[in-house]
Amino acid sequence: MKKGVIREDRAEDPQEVRSVEDRIIKEERLIRDEEARSVFNKVFDRATLTAVYELARKKFFEEVEFIISTGKEGNVFRCHGGDNYYALKIFKVSTSEFRHMQNYIIGDERFKDVRKDKLEIIKLWTKKEFRNLEDFAKAKIRAPLPIASNRNCLLMEFIGKEGIPAPRAKDKPFEEPEKQYHILCEYMAKMVNARLIHADLSEYNILNNDEELVIIDVGQAVTTMHPNAKEFFERDVLNLSKYFAKQGVDTNYEKMYADIKAIGKKLAKGK
Ligand SMILES: Nc1ncnc2c1ncn2[C@@H]1O[C@H](COP(=O)(O)OP(=O)(O)OP(=O)(O)O)[C@@H](O)[C@H]1O
Ligand SMILES: [Mg+2]
Repeated sequence: MKKGVIREDRAEDPQEVRSVEDRIIKEERLIRDEEARSVFNKVFDRATLTAVYELARKKFFEEVEFIISTGKEGNVFRCHGGDNYYALKIFKVSTSEFRHMQNYIIGDERFKDVRKDKLEIIKLWTKKEFRNLEDFAKAKIRAPLPIASNRNCLLMEFIGKEGIPAPRAKDKPFEEPEKQYHILCEYMAKMVNARLIHADLSEYNILNNDEELVIIDVGQAVTTMHPNAKEFFERDVLNLSKYFAKQGVDTNYEKMYADIKAIGKKLAKGK
C-alpha cells in the first residue's frame, strides 16, 4: 500500500467475520515475534485479534512484527507490508483506564450521540484518534498519517528511520531547540486556527524523527468548543514552554502563549 493514503474501515459481512474468527487461531504467522505474540495472547481478547486479522486481510499490512511501546491504555506495534512499515496502536479493552477518556469525549460536539459502556468508549476513542489524525493532517500539522481503524485498533504511518522507531523528544532532545520551538509554536497556532487542542502535549508525545518534530498521541485532542479547552491548551503551553526553556530557548509560559497567538494571527491573515 502506498504511504500516506488515507483509507477508512468498511462494515463487514457477519458471516465473513465468523469465518475470519475461525481462521485467526491458525494465523500465528501473522505475529512473528514471540514476545509480540505473547503480549497479544495475554492482553488481547479474540475480538481484538479478529480486528487485527481483518486489517491484515484487507492488505493494509502483512505482519505484526514487534512491540514498540507497552502502555497502560494500549500497546503500539510495528507492522510491515511490502517495503513499508506501519504503527499499529491497540487499545486495551479489559484493563484500560477508560474513565478519564469520557472527559475528552463528553463535551466534544463531534461525538455527542454516544452510548457509554466500556467497549463503546474504547471503540469511539480509537475512532476519535483516527479522526484527530485526519484533522491534524488537514491542518498541515506534522503527525502520523492515519491509515485505517477497526474496533480498538488504529493503523497509522510509522514514524522512524529505516524501521527504527523515532525516539521521544524527552529521550532525544533536538539539536536546534530554537528552530523546533518555532515549528511547534506554528503547529500549535495551526491547531487553534483549526479549532483543535491536543490536550496532552509534552516532550513525551513529541517524536524526534531525525530532527523532524512529529506530534503523536492525539486521542484526547478536543475541539476549542470543549468546556475545558482553554485549560487544556494552557496546560500544553506550560509543559512545552518549560521543556524548551530547559533546552536553552529563551521562553516561558507567557512568551510562548504570545508567540503562538502572533503566529496564529499571521497565518489567519495569510489565508
Ligand atoms: N506512529 C508511530 N510511529 C512510531 N512510533 C510510535 C507511533 N505512535 C506511537 N509510537 C510509539 O509508541 C509510544 C506510545 O504511543 P502513544 O503515546 O500514542 O500511546 P499511549 O497509549 O498514550 O502511551 P503512553 O501512555 O506511553 O503515552 C510513543 O511514545 C512512541 O514511542
Ligand atoms: Mg503518549
